[in-house]
Amino acid sequence: MKTLGIGLLGTGFMGKAHTQAYRSIPIYMGDINPRLIAIYGRSPGKTRDVAEKYGYLKYYTDWLELIKDNGVEVVDNSLPNFLHHDPSVSAAEEGKPIICEKPLARNLEEALDMVRAVEKAGVIHGVIFNKRWFPSIRLAKKLIEDGVIGKVSHFRFAYHQDWASRSRVMTWRFKRKLAGYGVLGDQGSHVIDMIRFLIGDFSRVLGRSRIALGERFGEDGAREKVDVEDVITILVEMENRAIGTVEVSRFSLGRKNYFTFEIYGEEGALYFDMERLNELWVYTRAPPEVEGFKRILVTEGEHPFYKYFWPAGHTIGWVESFTLQLYYFLKAVEEDREYSPNFRDGAKVNAVMDAVYESLEEGRFIEVKEI
Ligand SMILES: NC(=O)c1ccc[n+]([C@@H]2O[C@H](COP(=O)([O-])OP(=O)(O)OC[C@H]3O[C@@H](n4cnc5c(N)ncnc54)[C@H](O)[C@@H]3O)[C@@H](O)[C@H]2O)c1
Repeated sequence: MKTLGIGLLGTGFMGKAHTQAYRSIPIYMGDINPRLIAIYGRSPGKTRDVAEKYGYLKYYTDWLELIKDNGVEVVDNSLPNFLHHDPSVSAAEEGKPIICEKPLARNLEEALDMVRAVEKAGVIHGVIFNKRWFPSIRLAKKLIEDGVIGKVSHFRFAYHQDWASRSRVMTWRFKRKLAGYGVLGDQGSHVIDMIRFLIGDFSRVLGRSRIALGERFGEDGAREKVDVEDVITILVEMENRAIGTVEVSRFSLGRKNYFTFEIYGEEGALYFDMERLNELWVYTRAPPEVEGFKRILVTEGEHPFYKYFWPAGHTIGWVESFTLQLYYFLKAVEEDREYSPNFRDGAKVNAVMDAVYESLEEGRFIEVKEI
């Protein structure tokens, strides 16, 4: 089994998810063994504990030292958005393949600088848009590409959560300087990438947004201002003339991780809800007496990727999307071939988000810049 040395930046939510994914790759896929070489975190005590618990051989409190470690063959950047650029560029400069969490950057300019760095260095690069990797999403893509629902005419995408209404704590996610965007970057970047993946490139966007809670409490208890949106709605026009709506919120009470879409074509329709991620609902024309959406349980060996997992009906979970995405990244590294979604895809998402922000300021439709 081919081994590849992993250096992971970040001990938070994503550090845990990515580690779980790396550890299960040899069990599910069986032809690559990611070796957990080193993990980076700010605090020595916490990082040492996490390294021990997760099974990393070493830990660092300086991310550049981790990147330069000879045993690290692949760098995984699972740090907050304000730490995507510098460590990712440094990894490229060290000639190491780099996979970075979404959103790729805090704005398009920063994203393009990252694209230039990886392309100049000639390293393999990827951006985490894990939702692309659910078997149900791959089936949706196949059905669209095979023309099963005909030409897509319109769609509705939404990503609702409610965690931000349950806490008044200030974190990097509520500061434009650190996060780049509010809920648009956090949850909306997934939605934008998914629309690109399934339907095509964006032409124009018109946004409206709200900050639901204007002040939060910092670590010292002081009130701090929130300067990015909590709720956003976007009207979308696509290059292929499809039109749609996007709703994203972290203040939608009762909704936990409600990523959902409806895609309508001239011959049929698709419906997905990530809280039931093993399912895809498909409508195709039928005689009136048997008309209706059909629920497909996407767990057959014939379904995309499902051969790696379990017998039919033995469902998978959210973390398996990371397992698949990271596995295919390591395969691309092993075989020295281009990977998708890559930094260019990440920058295209930034281009859409920047257009949405410009539209919020100007109150009109804004054309999305071509990359
Ligand atoms: N793909 C997904 O579904 C998904 C889900 C959540 C987050 N994310 C993305 O993953 C990235 C990390 O998010 P997270 O939820 O793991 O964040 P987090 O806040 O849980 O943790 C991030 C890590 O960065 C560290 N950190 C924070 N401030 C730092 C600083 N100033 N210097 C150095 N280290 C610092 C934290 O200690 C922690 O180890 C973000 O870019 C986020 O957008 C992706």
